Amino acid sequence: MSRIRRLLIKSRVVAVDRHDNGVTVLSFAPIHRTTYPAHRGGAHTLVRIDDHRVRPYSLCGDPSDTRWRIAVRASGIDGSASDHLARSNRPGDHLFLSHPQERFGLDPAATRHRFIAGGIGITPILSMLYELRETPHSEPARVHYFVRSRSEAVFVEELSAFDHIDLRIYSGQDADRPDARTVADSPREGEHLYYCGPPRMMARINQVHDLWAGRAHTESFAAMPANPTSVTTNDAFDLRLLKSGRTIRVRARETPLQALVRAGIQVDYGCGVGLCGTCVLDVGAGVVDHRDHCLTDAERASAMAPCISRGSGTLDILL
Ligand code: FES
Repeated sequence: MSRIRRLLIKSRVVAVDRHDNGVTVLSFAPIHRTTYPAHRGGAHTLVRIDDHRVRPYSLCGDPSDTRWRIAVRASGIDGSASDHLARSNRPGDHLFLSHPQERFGLDPAATRHRFIAGGIGITPILSMLYELRETPHSEPARVHYFVRSRSEAVFVEELSAFDHIDLRIYSGQDADRPDARTVADSPREGEHLYYCGPPRMMARINQVHDLWAGRAHTESFAAMPANPTSVTTNDAFDLRLLKSGRTIRVRARETPLQALVRAGIQVDYGCGVGLCGTCVLDVGAGVVDHRDHCLTDAERASAMAPCISRGSGTLDILL
């Protein structure tokens, strides 16, 4: 059984590009490795803002680039994670980024593609378009990009340089701007829909989601669901550490990770909320109440994220 680890990658800020419209584009290079792990278009990384905050940001560059790039829209709320990230970083600063998280991306079964983005929701779609550029298709992909005003649009120069897409930008000031639901209508044979944007736009498109019969793909960090299979009880339970022979009691009001740290056991961790996978441990036996968002069902058969998941009775841990 192999230990699953998605350690955070120490990275250096190599460029900071602040736009007048409140968007800051940050580029990174890894510090202790020569390249970042490969990722597909649509992937995101979890950025460790500080000791208490980790936030997901789409990787918005060309997936074949050696640098990673994210775009952050300042929220205007003092002290918010995005504002902190956008305003406080300078070239040369260090940040921790997670390995790529791939929950949104091009479907290999698609023969046609339609993309709908709203505002900063263009970021995962941009990297998907870079990936799509490498795949020959019979017709340009349709890209519908909704913005409140033309000045809000980002990456327009890059999008306009693509000759494999049919780009339409709709500003809130356009009298003839279509509704997001309308441009998501009438799926064609072999066509897949990908959409990402603010909640109101997503809600409109969700109304026609079923028309796509499993061919609509979406990402919304705000809507990251609670794990529906988790049972949210907090009874105490035991961790039996198979290598050391120790048994650690996890109290009702602490996480397994906290119990391990309290017992002086070294465990890597990052986000503390079940997103990054850094803390994941191999489980030999026992019933785990999985509450994370980072493990697949297959991985859950033999692993857990102790920063958030729990167990009942005794869990055998390969530590
Ligand atoms: S520390 Fe990130 S998943 Fe546990």
